[in-house]
Amino acid sequence: MRYRRLGPSGLQLSELSLGSWVTYHNQVDVDAAVEMLAAAFDAGINFFDNAEAYALGKSEEVMGQALRRLGWARDSYVVSTKFYWGLVREGCTVNRRNTLNRKYLMQAIDGSLRRFGLDHVDLVYCHRPDPHTPIEETVGAMSDMIRQGKALYWGTSEWSADEIRAAWHIADRHHLHKPVMEQPEYHLLHRQRVEKDYARLYEDIGLGLTTWSPLASGLLTGKYREGVPAGSRASMDSMAFLRDRLTDARRNEAVAQLAPIAAELGGTLAQLAIAWITKNPRVSTVITGASKLSQLQENLGALAVADRLTPEVMARIDAITAPLAQ
Ligand SMILES: NC(=O)c1ccc[n+]([C@@H]2O[C@H](COP(=O)([O-])OP(=O)(O)OC[C@H]3O[C@@H](n4cnc5c(N)ncnc54)[C@H](OP(=O)(O)O)[C@@H]3O)[C@@H](O)[C@H]2O)c1
Repeated sequence: MRYRRLGPSGLQLSELSLGSWVTYHNQVDVDAAVEMLAAAFDAGINFFDNAEAYALGKSEEVMGQALRRLGWARDSYVVSTKFYWGLVREGCTVNRRNTLNRKYLMQAIDGSLRRFGLDHVDLVYCHRPDPHTPIEETVGAMSDMIRQGKALYWGTSEWSADEIRAAWHIADRHHLHKPVMEQPEYHLLHRQRVEKDYARLYEDIGLGLTTWSPLASGLLTGKYREGVPAGSRASMDSMAFLRDRLTDARRNEAVAQLAPIAAELGGTLAQLAIAWITKNPRVSTVITGASKLSQLQENLGALAVADRLTPEVMARIDAITAPLAQ
């Protein structure tokens, strides 16, 4: 495993990390989480991503229980959470969901720490921008979380370049803790934000990236070329909104064209897709996902494939995928 600095911070994250969206509580119980976290940790992964909204808090509980069972030293791993959607779905939800107001954020961090059974998380993200709360208020609350020792670094997820820059300048002007990382979707078929919109932020504020959905929810493994396989993410009722994108004929045709390149490199499509992301030096860590141990083990092989991605191979991959990428 190789490690990269998280943006301008001194924190080093493993090039590959592991997240819990969709999987924890739904597909991965505490026993499976223990097994997969252990395999990841043994391979050198030191960052585990989570969010309040994942399985409505249950994902944090599963990860917390697994971490307790594993008994790792707290200084040996990095864990995150994210806030925006809230946990309340019924009754009066005002101030409790789809917000980054101070009241929600300060109470949300306490709830997450309780579910994890931890006294702090390392990284905390604003999971989406909130156009209804002044950015000053959100920056103040995130900075206070850090001052109180409940989180160590903060960042954003799917914020526009302007919003990130505004937050950074507010923090700078008021001597508050600045955002150090963004968590954007980034993979072969989704590139605009990372490669174009954020381009100036890397030099200007040193923005780090912890990127998500490296396999486009599984599309880039080739598993959706013949439709939706039983037991896959797209087969889940709660994930039905992904089906059209995952079975899109043009995207699956591009994946088919990548297959011989993966084979030439002695790897799989999943490994090729993940390896491609690691070639972008702006990426601090690629957050992978897996519903099974065997997937995690396969995906870890991406690091070896990355060493074989020459500029010539990168150009061939680009020719196939760039025309379809958003
Ligand atoms: N900030 C945000 O808004 C945001 C949004 C999404 C995700 N994330 C983070 O990013 C992490 C990764 O995202 P993701 O889960 O969407 O990543 P992904 O790599 O695009 O998709 C992972 C899923 O693809 C399938 N898969 C993985 N490896 C495979 C393999 N080798 N062969 C066949 N199928 C394989 C599995 O689903 P099945 O087996 O069920 O098909 C797995 O759960 C999340 O856990 C979360 O921490 C953040």
